[in-house]
Amino acid sequence: MTKLSQVDFLVMGAGVAGLRAAVELARHGDVLVVTKESVAESNTHYAQGGIAVAMEGDEDVALHLEDTVNAGDGIVYRPAAEALVSEGPLRVAELIEWGASFDREGDTGAGELLRTREGAHSLPRILHANGDATGAEISRSLAAFAHVHKRIRFAEWTMVTGLVVADGRVIAADLAPAGPLAGDSKPHRINTRSVLIAAGGAGQVYSDTTNPAVATGDGIALAAQAGAELADMEFYQFHPTALSLPGVPRFLISEALRGEGAYLRNDRGERFMERYHPLLELAPRDVVARAIAREGMGASPDSVSGSPSVDSRVVHLDMRHLHSLNIRDRFPGISAFLAQHGLDLARDLIPVRPAAHYLMGGIKTDLAGRTSLPGLYAAGEAACTGVHGANRLASNSLLEGLVFGARAAQSMLADSLPLVPADAPAADHKPLSVNEEALVEDLIANLQASMWAYAGLLRQESTLREGLAAQEACGASLAKLAEQGKSSRRLAEAQAMSRVAHAILHSALARTESRGAHFRNDFPKRDDAQFLKHSIFARGGEAQVLFEAW
Ligand code: SIN
Repeated sequence: MTKLSQVDFLVMGAGVAGLRAAVELARHGDVLVVTKESVAESNTHYAQGGIAVAMEGDEDVALHLEDTVNAGDGIVYRPAAEALVSEGPLRVAELIEWGASFDREGDTGAGELLRTREGAHSLPRILHANGDATGAEISRSLAAFAHVHKRIRFAEWTMVTGLVVADGRVIAADLAPAGPLAGDSKPHRINTRSVLIAAGGAGQVYSDTTNPAVATGDGIALAAQAGAELADMEFYQFHPTALSLPGVPRFLISEALRGEGAYLRNDRGERFMERYHPLLELAPRDVVARAIAREGMGASPDSVSGSPSVDSRVVHLDMRHLHSLNIRDRFPGISAFLAQHGLDLARDLIPVRPAAHYLMGGIKTDLAGRTSLPGLYAAGEAACTGVHGANRLASNSLLEGLVFGARAAQSMLADSLPLVPADAPAADHKPLSVNEEALVEDLIANLQASMWAYAGLLRQESTLREGLAAQEACGASLAKLAEQGKSSRRLAEAQAMSRVAHAILHSALARTESRGAHFRNDFPKRDDAQFLKHSIFARGGEAQVLFEAW
């Protein structure tokens, strides 16, 4: 682990937002990028479908803006969406110049960029790389570009375990080893002008998620613990089509398959989306996810009752009619994964079900990445600028990381906060016993299952309250271990997931309407009179939710 005692800028997270910010920051200072595993292991790396960007001039940009705003179901913060779509083309052109290679027509590598379509996009504008490995290519190219920069250092297999606040400003961070050989190595404190949290989402809060194991919401929880406000935490996007095979992780089956013409069929073989939305399989993501859930539960399209614990094993994705498409070339990664389980996209129906995918909410920031806590900045999935409103437009997240990663870095440079040495070292900790580690694993599994059952696609007051009781019990058991001065990577992750779940549950209870990804069985309608607003969690440190218009 890097044992620097100070650095100009500390970036937590090595996905697209963190790496893009690091490149910008390194123009004027020394940067330390801290990541819990290797640089390649981020949510960015697993993004399949692509990056949405309007490269064809003003009209194209205006259409991208309208699609983004429409998908967000009334509460997209328009200035954020304007920044995203208008700065996006420059950021993507820059990325290509730095070595990212997107798929093009022909074999020469010099043809026109290929573009595909996904749900709620009015035209094909999604660039992709190596078929279905867009995130991996963006992550590879940005990391390669950052690695040769002398002012950027990486602390891999390292966790940020705390933010040090003095006189109302973040002045330092505590780092601890996070690798398998971490043992009882000591944490250490590093002074810094400012910290950027770009540590991604928190899909692991749910038992069913497309997110990798590292997505435990650490950055969001640390910010909240240090006193920063969170926003829109009730809006968790459930991807409609994760692989649904017993004992197999919820591997993402990209929306780009539906963009290329795949159908969704229920257990009777019917293309059921015609009963739910005129855009059929390319309807907004929240509509498709709930339709799959309802078909899986055998409920009628407009039913609002039924178990909130959704079981959608009976729904399938069907590409068997797409004879002219070379499916294995277009989707090599997905084809290879399915082949390991005896499935072939060209031949078989693929069982799918929704899974937690993307948090629209997060650490509340302005358009320049500033949080409510001086010295602390956030970008990418960990942040909430309001750009996605209640439902993110497909493939807008990689673009968000590029645009707002660069913006946050520019404001960290502009603010140019002084280095203030923290006056105490990081507190020591004791390792957990084997039994305590096992207890933490049980607590995590229970929390994940209860969040899926009680705060998933379909919610209502009674179940949200059950979820809150389960989360509070989990939080209390974790706190007991922490109070004894115990610490481990899994304990820190469990505390982060519990804190994020707490914010989701409170925010979901407070929004007594249905909008975008947040659906309440007991309030099935949108209520614009009361809720054309963003939720703010923990203003002033209290576990309470306020609503405000942006
Ligand atoms: C997908 O490929 O379906 C995921 C893309 C996204 O979440 O934007």
